[in-house]
Amino acid sequence: MSSEPISLGEALASFDALWSPRVVTRVNDYDVRIAKVEGEHVWHAHDDTDEFFLVLDGELSISLREPDGERTVSLPRGAVFTVPRGTEHKPRAPFGASILMFEPTGTLTVGERHDEVPDHVDVTTGHALDV
Ligand code: NI
Repeated sequence: MSSEPISLGEALASFDALWSPRVVTRVNDYDVRIAKVEGEHVWHAHDDTDEFFLVLDGELSISLREPDGERTVSLPRGAVFTVPRGTEHKPRAPFGASILMFEPTGTLTVGERHDEVPDHVDVTTGHALDV
């Protein structure tokens, strides 16, 4: 963990992997993670935690399966959204996006319940940032 300020631009420039978050810093027992995304993630749910998204660049859509049915929210650059715990969701970014997430350390990228994970989605609790 760096004790120096971190440039998100430099941090994003330090890796190319898609759907493979880097841990930028920690706040108490939460990770601040950044990721580059393009295409589709997988339907999944985090049973024990909400999941916060901030779109740094591009546009992210998140489909949600809610009690009243399915809907998709569109998040342009600068938008924030929190997926409630237990809600099945599927992020996608057809044209690519850079995102920041805030969630408890140890949270898996595919949650506790998920569809079959395609090869392009990294199952991880976040990788160390190397800048
Ligand atoms: Ni999630």
